[in-house]
Amino acid sequence: MMSLELSRRIRAISPSPTLSIDTKTKALLAEGIDVVNLSVGEPDFNTPDQASLAAISAIITNFTKYTPVPGIMELRKGIVNKLRTENELAYTPEEIIVSSGAKHSLYNIFMAILNPGDEVLLPAPYWVSYPEQIRLCEGVPVVLATDESTGFKVTPEQLEQAITPKTRAFLLNSPSNPTGAVYTPEEIRAIAAVLEKHDIYVVSDEIYEQLTYGVEHYSIARFSENMKSKTLVVNGFSKTFAMTGWRVGYVAGPLPIIKAMTSFQSHTTANPASISQKAAVGALGTFDQEHVAEFQHRRDFVLGQLAELPGVICAKPEGAFYVFPNVRSWIGKTYTRANQSTIVVDSVDTLAELLLTDANISIVPGTGFGAPDNFRISYATSMEQLKKAMNRLSDFVSRLR
Ligand SMILES: Cc1ncc(COP(=O)(O)O)c(C=O)c1O
Repeated sequence: MMSLELSRRIRAISPSPTLSIDTKTKALLAEGIDVVNLSVGEPDFNTPDQASLAAISAIITNFTKYTPVPGIMELRKGIVNKLRTENELAYTPEEIIVSSGAKHSLYNIFMAILNPGDEVLLPAPYWVSYPEQIRLCEGVPVVLATDESTGFKVTPEQLEQAITPKTRAFLLNSPSNPTGAVYTPEEIRAIAAVLEKHDIYVVSDEIYEQLTYGVEHYSIARFSENMKSKTLVVNGFSKTFAMTGWRVGYVAGPLPIIKAMTSFQSHTTANPASISQKAAVGALGTFDQEHVAEFQHRRDFVLGQLAELPGVICAKPEGAFYVFPNVRSWIGKTYTRANQSTIVVDSVDTLAELLLTDANISIVPGTGFGAPDNFRISYATSMEQLKKAMNRLSDFVSRLR
């Protein structure tokens, strides 16, 4: 029997709860159980034809070899053009690095900027991978708690108070996964005014930028040249273009950091898949605004249904494709199962488990997002599925005492 231990680094993290719930759900579906999957963070739309055709052409023309580590010039130029026209941000292609998904981009950033013990200010609820990636790089996530009372947004005062000499970076994710919160341009400017006074990197994860409902997305890098010189803008093709499986993400930022990330990437994964890069070139500029209207319609439906349920508090998300209801009042209640046995819902994790096994709805408990009173519903699925899920949820709640 092996007595050798795994590394300290790897023992400090746990697997992605969102991906493990998705795997469990898919296993139940494969068994023929009619589970409604509201756990997955991927759009139900198809990859744009332009992207698929560009990828097919890449294969046929044998564009299947190593590319430059930070991505092909054609793609980086396309990203520069996108950032200029859509975000009013001026970068050169050398200030862009393309990686195998934005998750990979974020990991490269933390590897490039964190020394052991460096603190990263992380507003909660947060996307599950941020604290784990920070820990993998031996940094320390310092959680800034937020709740429904501020629309899940950090205030400038809260940020100011949290900054210490050890603070290395601030993580901003707007629109947010899991809350759907979107900082208005004024709110971003107020946060930027605090950060301007300090030598702190800003990691700005803007992967849901196109999915906002009546609020303008504003990149913090636009605030000033000084702010831009400290900001790493993270984005990708997964959410905007329904290209989760292609694995293409990117970072725009100051040249020395981009070079450091490129050096790290050169020794780990090297270039992102050549075929996916061509697909990304094909996708640029094809975002379909109709998706926004469709998502907004679904969001409003889910919010309306949740409002009918007793004891639910739910902030109105203005972006991404998630709602994040607070169900603290359900915790401690007793659920009566179909066979009349009873079980106490002692946590949101138990709730998620019961919803999966007894109501056949797959959601993600808030625990992994740093929010143990909430759960996440992804509405990136059809109205038909959403209606089915909300009916099942309502039946489930009627069995809580
Ligand atoms: C906030 C946020 N950032 C980054 C990612 C990573 O996306 P990908 O690696 O598919 O580009 C996700 C995916 O769920 C996300 O929700």
